[in-house]
This record gives sequence, structure tokens and C-alpha cells, in this order.
Amino acid sequence: MYRLSIIILLLIALSFTPALSEQCHPQDKQSLLQIKKELGNPSNLSSWLPTTDCCDNWKGIHCTATQTQAYRVYWLELYDLNLPKPYPIPPSIVNLPYLQYLLITNTDNIVGTIPPSITKLTQLRRLHIRYTNVSGPIPEFLSQMKTLEYILLANSKFSGTLPSWLPSLPKLTGIFIEGSDISGTIPDSFGSFSNVFRQMILSGNRLIGKIPATLGNLNLQVLDLSENMLEGDASMLFKAGKHMEQIYLNNNLFSFDFGKVEFSKTLKMIDISNNRIYGTLPKELTSLMHLQSFNVSYNNLCGEIPRGGGLKYTYESSYAHNKCLCGAPLPSCK
Ligand SMILES: *[C@@H]1O[C@H](CO)[C@@H](O)[C@H](O)[C@H]1NC(C)=O
Ligand SMILES: *[C@@H]1O[C@H](CO)[C@@H](O)[C@H](O)[C@H]1NC(C)=O
Ligand SMILES: *[C@@H]1O[C@H](CO)[C@@H](O)[C@H](O)[C@H]1NC(C)=O
Repeated sequence: MYRLSIIILLLIALSFTPALSEQCHPQDKQSLLQIKKELGNPSNLSSWLPTTDCCDNWKGIHCTATQTQAYRVYWLELYDLNLPKPYPIPPSIVNLPYLQYLLITNTDNIVGTIPPSITKLTQLRRLHIRYTNVSGPIPEFLSQMKTLEYILLANSKFSGTLPSWLPSLPKLTGIFIEGSDISGTIPDSFGSFSNVFRQMILSGNRLIGKIPATLGNLNLQVLDLSENMLEGDASMLFKAGKHMEQIYLNNNLFSFDFGKVEFSKTLKMIDISNNRIYGTLPKELTSLMHLQSFNVSYNNLCGEIPRGGGLKYTYESSYAHNKCLCGAPLPSCK
């Protein structure tokens, strides 16, 4: 009798110990296991097991405690999944009510469009979908998600135009919409992002036309418009007294007088190569002491290359193929 009760006690202890020390909320665990199933139980998610704690070493999962809640899943990263066949974005992601970060990357067998039910994630701060085969336009229902701080939709099959409602998201600090099939012009509303907005990356799409003059009013740190078919004036993007650190306008059809632009002292990277930009290189460039890379090649620039200061270490290929630039590192002026 005594022995039997010891054994029973031991069994009870064994069956309760893991449950007691487990942080994973049972509802989150159930949702995650359902997500795994919706992706065909891929071997890359073999760490997602019913018998282990989802907050402890499940691939791509992080939990956090909030003031009102015990540990809940706030980070879901589905990446590098070697899926044997195509699957849509798993519908059960919307059953993770405390999700703040949703990242779906490097998985070409994720297909279909962003589901409208995603708006149920009322705490979502970051949405990343990159290197997938997710397609369709950037959906308008994302405009309901006022908690969004960063939207990254890139290197997938997104199409359509840039949505003019993006600046209505009050907490947005950046958009990264790169390497897709986005066409049309940059909406006029893009000059009215809030003053927490810092990054605009729109490279490698099929954007056309002139850029809104109001883009010059933004307080950006990073602006990348490279590899589109944008044209006309972009001089308003260069201004003194701003905090711009990186500006990439390369591989477009921009045409403006570079001799008349002003520069923020914070600039680190400038690439305006492969455009139709004319005029001279302002002497003020030498005062950019943080400059790490500078490329004005393949334009219609003329005159002597300023030397010294921030332009100390530059290469011939940064200046090559212009109309009549001269002086080191190019051949000397006549
Ligand atoms: C996913 O699985 C593939 C094939 O089994 C493997 O090559 C890859 O390294 C895995 N990736 C991760 C992040 O586990
Ligand atoms: C996803 O895209 C890649 C590259 O464009 C392509 O080779 C592949 O067939 C696509 N897969 C699906 C399921 O559409
Ligand atoms: C400058 O840009 C041109 C054209 O894109 C490229 O060929 C060259 O290597 C670049 N030079 C530097 C120093 O980045």
C-alpha cells in the first residue's frame, strides 16, 4: 500500500511538473500547432512539439509577459521553411491575439494573398513578408491596423500601385516595398507621413512619373527610390538641416541640376548613378564628414570634382561616364 501511494505520487508529480514550469499559454500552443498543421507539418518546425514549452526553443517563437497577461506569443517568424508544396499564409496566425511581430521570409512555397482576417491581430507592430510567392495588391484592410509601425512587403509577387492611405497609419516609422511588381506613380499623400516616419524604401519596382514635391518635407533617414523609372526633379530631397543618412536614387530617369542642391551633414551614402542629372558637383560635398559611399556615375555632370574632406576616398567608378567631369580620380581638367 505504502509503495503504491509513492508510485502514484511520483506519477502525479511527473505529469504536473512540466505543466507547472511551462510558460507557453495553452491557447497559443494550440494555435501554433494548428499553424504547423496548416503548413503540412514541415520538418523545419520539428521543434514545435505538443510536449514542450513553446516559449522555450520553438523555432521562430518568442513570448513575453505583459502587465495583464502571463507569457504570450508576441513574435512569430516563419523563415527558411522547406515546404514540399505551396500553402497559403496559415489562417490560424490570427489566433495569436498578442502577436506584435509577424515575419514570413525565405519560403517560396508560401503563396496566395494576405488574408483580410489579419486585421484581427490588433497589436501587430511589424509585418514582414519577404522572399515568398505571396501575391496581390497591398490590401486596403491594412489601413485599419493603426498599431503598425513597419511594413515590409518585398521580393515577392506583390502588384498594383502604392496605396495612398499608407500615411494614415499614425505609428508608421518605415515602409520597405522592394523588388516586386508595384507600378504607377508615388502618391501625393506620401509627402504627409507623420514625423516619426524615417525610412522609405521603394526600390526595384516599376514606379514611373515625377515624384511629389512634398517628399522633401519628410524627415527621412533612409530614402531608396533606386531601380524604377522615376523622372524629373528630385532636388527637393536634398536639404540642409535634415537627418538624411542614406539616399539612393540610382537607375532612374531623374533630371535636375545637382549644382544647386543642399546637403544634410549627416549623409553617409549617396548614390545618384544612372540618371540624367546635370550641373556640377557642389564644393559643399567636401564638408560631409560622415560620407562612406558616393556614386554619381552615368549622368550628365560637368566640371571639376571637389577634393578633400568627406570626398577623400572615392573611386574613379564613382564619377565615370559623365558628360565632362574632370580632376582626380578622373583625368585632370584641361
Ligand atoms: C530547413 O530545412 C532544410 C531542408 O531540410 C534545411 O536545409 C534548412 O537548413 C532548414 N532551415 C532551418 C532554418 O532550419
Ligand atoms: C515561387 O517563385 C519562384 C521564383 O520566382 C518560382 O521558381 C517558383 O516556382 C514559385 N513557386 C510557386 C509555388 O509559385
Ligand atoms: C558606381 O555605380 C556604377 C553604376 O551603377 C557602378 O558600376 C560602379 O561600380 C559604382 N562605383 C562605386 C565605387 O560604387
